Amino acid sequence: MTKKIALVTGGMGGIGTAICKTLAETGHTVVTTYSKSGREQAWLADMNGLGFTDIHCYQCDVADFAACQSMVARIVKDLGPVSILVNNAGITRDASFKKQTKDDWDAVIRTNLDSVFNMTKPVLDGMLEAGFGRIINISSINGQKGQFGQTNYSAAKAGMHGFTMALAQEVAKKGVTVNTISPGYIATEMVMAVPEDVRNKIIAQIPVGRLGKPEEIAALVGFLSSEHAGFITGSNIAMNGGQHMM
Ligand code: CAA
Ligand code: NAP
Repeated sequence: MTKKIALVTGGMGGIGTAICKTLAETGHTVVTTYSKSGREQAWLADMNGLGFTDIHCYQCDVADFAACQSMVARIVKDLGPVSILVNNAGITRDASFKKQTKDDWDAVIRTNLDSVFNMTKPVLDGMLEAGFGRIINISSINGQKGQFGQTNYSAAKAGMHGFTMALAQEVAKKGVTVNTISPGYIATEMVMAVPEDVRNKIIAQIPVGRLGKPEEIAALVGFLSSEHAGFITGSNIAMNGGQHMM
């Protein structure tokens, strides 16, 4: 595996941390973003303690296009061009549509969907020039099947895959692949925020009988970002313990 620069948004969260570890284990230079400052030094110290030293973090609100552009320019100047982009940052603001506010809608669409434009735009030209690139969008089972209380999130996550399919066609000839991963319910803070009684009912609907592990999603990101995955593009790969089969 040739060493590359991999940029993972939201890399200090549950799934993001596992993705950063996998990409670092594969030998890449890993760059991640965070929006709320305060825990980045501790997170970096943990990573260094695990032996991952070529790992870097930058503060950036992925919902802000100008901030993404200037962050990518700094990364390119400090480290070099980005070859692997994992659009992983995301939030939920769950409420039935009756109770959902315009702020809930805007926050989720901006952070989960606008961010995909905001981050892909500044890295894509470098990938096309290099003749190699991997873009992996972390969507959700709920973008595939919908979910009570998530009109905003389901719309954003379904939109991510529309983006994937269109861009995959535009850049396929230049060695750049674009894929979506749609995880089911994975044991992170995002799922632990669902009320326990509701969460238990959801787990009961998963044939495998448990929540997924962040490392399981990370392993798939590792494969999709590799040189072996050059024939996979425009795909939406589900990993949901059998909860939703398409
Ligand atoms: N299906 C059908 N009816 C449902 C329902 C469901 N899944 N959930 C709630 N209802 C019904 C209630 O029984 C109640 O009915 P009555 O009025 O007849 O009594 C009514 O809807 C309540 O509606 P409210 O608007 O008052 O809803 P609420 O305030 O009780 O909360 C909710 C609703 C916030 C959506 C809550 O049910 C919830 O948190 N659900 C989980 C949503 C979810 O799965 N989120 C995923 C988060 S993790 C993630 O997003 C990661 C990922 O990608 C997988
Ligand atoms: P998480 O632990 O809550 O992590 C989310 C990450 O996103 C955090 O690192 C957070 O960083 C970052 N983030 C949020 N808003 C941001 C913003 N405006 N700018 C930059 N970064 C921002 O969630 P997770 O479970 O790991 O989820 C990761 C991704 O997987 C999300 O896109 C989520 O929708 C998706 N997903 C999760 C599940 C699941 O079951 N957990 C299932 C399917 C899909 P800060 O704290 O610094 O803001």
